Amino acid sequence: PDTTPTAIPVEAVTDEATVFDLQDPELLRTPHAIYGRLREQAPVVWAKTRVGETDLGFWLVTRYAEVKELLADSRFSNDPHDVPGGQAVDFRRKAREEIGMREEESYLTRTLLDIEGADHTRLRKLVSRTFTVRRVNELRPRVEEITDRLLDELPATAENGVVDLIEHFAYPLPIAVICELVGIPEEDRTQWHVWSDKLLSTDRSLVAGVVREAAAQIRRLIELRRAQPTSDLLSGLVRIQDEDGDRLTEDEMISLIFVLVIAGHLTTANLIGNGTVALLTHPDELDRLKSDPELAPRAVHELMRWCGPLMTAARVRYALEDVEIGGTTIRQGESAMGLLATANRDLREFDAPDRLDITREPAGRRESHVGFGHGPHYCLGAALARQEGDVAFTKLFSRFPDLRLAVDPEELEYQPQPTFRSLIRLPVRL
Ligand code: HEM
Repeated sequence: PDTTPTAIPVEAVTDEATVFDLQDPELLRTPHAIYGRLREQAPVVWAKTRVGETDLGFWLVTRYAEVKELLADSRFSNDPHDVPGGQAVDFRRKAREEIGMREEESYLTRTLLDIEGADHTRLRKLVSRTFTVRRVNELRPRVEEITDRLLDELPATAENGVVDLIEHFAYPLPIAVICELVGIPEEDRTQWHVWSDKLLSTDRSLVAGVVREAAAQIRRLIELRRAQPTSDLLSGLVRIQDEDGDRLTEDEMISLIFVLVIAGHLTTANLIGNGTVALLTHPDELDRLKSDPELAPRAVHELMRWCGPLMTAARVRYALEDVEIGGTTIRQGESAMGLLATANRDLREFDAPDRLDITREPAGRRESHVGFGHGPHYCLGAALARQEGDVAFTKLFSRFPDLRLAVDPEELEYQPQPTFRSLIRLPVRL
């Protein structure tokens, strides 16, 4: 379960009562029902995953209060090296070994999400200013422009009257936005959708190639910006590195760009995809949004809660000492995964949690759901993601008020893995 974007294949080991099958096709069809049963069973559940030939055990944390505890408690770390005595099972190393990647090429497994303490603070600070609410608000006209252009082009992509909203809207919008911010030129952008598809695929052998190709692209852009700086994030990072290599090494820069672009589009694309399906299958809620577009920020909070793109947190947490959580002791060195989707539908926190109600949450910056995580690794791009969702839903449904699904909701296909709730295609009629 060491996931975004290193999801390792999770295989069912069903010889214990509390273990459930993470690859059950039924889980893909009705994840909220199945994960939800688990939440009602216990706040902390033992599960197993198979990496190569090895079965690795880990805890699943299912309820709202306990998930928040897990994500904010400094007795847990995302970095297995922090565990005293080195007795933690290193999911990342196992994942690397499995896909045949050398340690020095593992930009994917040494991202912001994998480091803690002073290094985490130092690197996060270098980029956090780009993603503040103020900076994101300044960006809004540009996000609207990109959205308008994609919507203008949408009718021409129809085949027999059917448009794939994933291919032609949900992915290109956040890719364009994050690439523009970071400084990845237009001709290099299409690669990122290809790469994220490979990262989500069950064929793990594709991952090493993606990391190498992406790192090569980023390294080439770094050299270009070094020769000819612009006002983008890449140029800013290059300048920092040139002035003070202690603040940022070249490998750290590559990992940082990698995680920003991947985390910045894969998730947001799925918020747009899942949110569109949720609204189309709840016509009363959609009508409320259409008649009052001011509701969009609140609708985004609710869609994040109800059908957020990440079923689980992006990384397991390792216990640095014995920690009791939800009445279960997680032993030093053991790992625990927070189930964001079940926390977000916990009756102990939300009234009628399975009901979609786009006016449930106030429009503020912070939300009560944990779809963007919690604690020190709380999503760096939450403000940007919310804004993209807001613009995307508002413009999509005002431009195409008759938009409807071209297939039964039951026929929609999702990527076969338990972390991302990720549509493969979203066929609609405009
Ligand atoms: C972290 C969700 C959009 C960048 C996270 C985490 C979650 C999350 C749950 C924490 C994972 C954990 O603690 O294990 C989402 C969702 C998004 C989204 C659902 C869209 C709907 C974005 C965007 C960016 C971004 C647009 C672009 C900057 C990051 C980064 C981290 C992160 C860099 C790691 C932060 C750290 O470790 O300090 N995101 N995210 N995300 N997100 Fe997002």
